[in-house]
Amino acid sequence: MTVPLIQKMKRGGEKIVMVTCYDYSFARLIDEAGVDIVLVGDSLGMVIQGQKSTLPVTLEEMIYHSRCVARGLTRPLLVTDMPFMSYQSSQGEAIKNAGRLLKEGKAESIKLEGGVEVADLIHRMNRIGIPVMGHIGLQPQSFHKYGGYKIQGKTPQEERHLLEDALAVQEAGCWSVVLEGVPVDVAQKITGRLKIPTVGIGCGPSCDGQVLVLYDLLGMNPDFNPRFLKRYANLAEVVTESVSLFRQEVKDQRFPTEEHGVRRNVIDATLKIRQRNASGT
Ligand code: KIV
Repeated sequence: MTVPLIQKMKRGGEKIVMVTCYDYSFARLIDEAGVDIVLVGDSLGMVIQGQKSTLPVTLEEMIYHSRCVARGLTRPLLVTDMPFMSYQSSQGEAIKNAGRLLKEGKAESIKLEGGVEVADLIHRMNRIGIPVMGHIGLQPQSFHKYGGYKIQGKTPQEERHLLEDALAVQEAGCWSVVLEGVPVDVAQKITGRLKIPTVGIGCGPSCDGQVLVLYDLLGMNPDFNPRFLKRYANLAEVVTESVSLFRQEVKDQRFPTEEHGVRRNVIDATLKIRQRNASGT
């Protein structure tokens, strides 16, 4: 998958599928599932690290997780989030940090939050060949400013600002933009106005694509029930039941059995074959 191919999907009316991922093993499975974009989201602050928000996530952590995910992918485009304060202090710092996500994290695009206020930065990144995915509407990195995770674009004034943000990031060179927590009709209007694809979360069906946090769609957290979420599995139950069963079998001495042990003569035979292969005889 490439940026131009994903943009072509909007023109052809084909929906874009994006999912978050944070490690190699899940990356391999997601690759098999045939999604278009994999996002190493700073949501890892919550779902991997158990933090209350995305704010504590560092650039080093994003690079580390991005590199792990990259090793498991063959087809989807890899987009990695710029974490809080890795792009807000100066353009030079932001470009250096985005470069590290591409060079060390193996990302193929970065994603950053903001509208009009980050347009100059996006423009500079775009000119030097760093693909940027925008993120407007509910911006989790600004949750202190808004006093929580609040739907954006509800009043006519907020709607106007949102459209300005969308047009500003497109004009600045974003190849695509995430719309988060925006009323369905507003998301529909923005999607209709933009040439670049919109990828929605909590914005209804009219965006050009949809994104969900992997752990949410797999049902890893029974206590997280926002209206926009659809669970496609109940992994919380599968994991708890499997580990309980393992625990019980060990306690009852039903695991391991004979078949799970390796006999000495099998080890000897394996070693002999390895030695023969190594010496080429
Ligand atoms: O960090 C993240 O997972 C995201 C998605 C929810 C779009 O930004």
